[in-house]
Amino acid sequence: MTSRRPIFSLGSINADFHVRVDRRPEPGETLIGRDFRALGGGKAANVALLAMRLGHPAHLFGRVGNDALAEQALAPLRLAGVDLSGVSPVDGCATAVSMISVPPDGDKGIVLAPNANDRWDEDGIAALEANIAGAPEGAVLVLDCEVPAEVAARAAAAAGRRRLTRVLDPSPAERVDDALLAEADFVLPNSAEAEALTGIAIDDAASGARAARRLIDRGAGAACVKLPGGGSVLAERGRLSLVRAPQVDVTDTTGAGDAFAGAFAVALAEGRDPVEAVRFATAAASHVVTGYGSQPAYPDREDVERLLAGVQAEPLDPPD
Ligand code: RIB
Repeated sequence: MTSRRPIFSLGSINADFHVRVDRRPEPGETLIGRDFRALGGGKAANVALLAMRLGHPAHLFGRVGNDALAEQALAPLRLAGVDLSGVSPVDGCATAVSMISVPPDGDKGIVLAPNANDRWDEDGIAALEANIAGAPEGAVLVLDCEVPAEVAARAAAAAGRRRLTRVLDPSPAERVDDALLAEADFVLPNSAEAEALTGIAIDDAASGARAARRLIDRGAGAACVKLPGGGSVLAERGRLSLVRAPQVDVTDTTGAGDAFAGAFAVALAEGRDPVEAVRFATAAASHVVTGYGSQPAYPDREDVERLLAGVQAEPLDPPD
């Protein structure tokens, strides 16, 4: 049944520590925060959790430490029913940690200690490739780059051999090269990542379109560049589309990009057209930014459907 096609999610699994602040701290200052929360997080973990919320089986691949932080990261995923058989503990290493501060405008700042996320060995990579080779027909692989570049590259190549659809979150952008872009059926950069990858500053739909096309020229199958003011530009070969985000009150942007990637993958797994998949992903991400913390703010299908009517898509003329 197409609606139950699984999502394979490879990348970071983090213990998130959130705090609200009234402003960003000055150098050397100790700023008092509030509303402390210790949560599960990490890009791949967030994607997997969202896929489950939207009714798809999710398989997570990554590394945690052999420590108490691993439970903080994994407990919500286990509760949601994410398949964690592809997650291994690394002895003598801490689970990845994100220190997240959220100012009143919701535009969070994150300090990430990658720790176990970067600790893969050859046996682990080979096991990952074998898992992907055995993936069911129609599964979608979502991968971020908060794992070593070789892990992402080999997973993407294995998924290509298995003919899975591959969705790349190119974060951090410095780990993305043309070979990885060429393995991506869809790449979903935010505006900063798009600028880092293409050298084009993104300030409107036209610059977003130029960057998205540049990513296709560099090898990606299609590119969806998120715009700084909300919404995104999707470039496919022969088609450009602008998707506008609905107006919402922003509380915290943490994890919105992961929700976008997860919902986009779910929509593709359900056979939706890429523009419809971007609309669906935009609705999911728009819901997430209204709540504090990433995973606790993740939507179910009803939440997404409620916002979807307010997400408009239109064809875009090619930029000069
Ligand atoms: O993309 C957001 C996620 O990555 C958060 O859950 C946090 O772990 C950050 O590093």
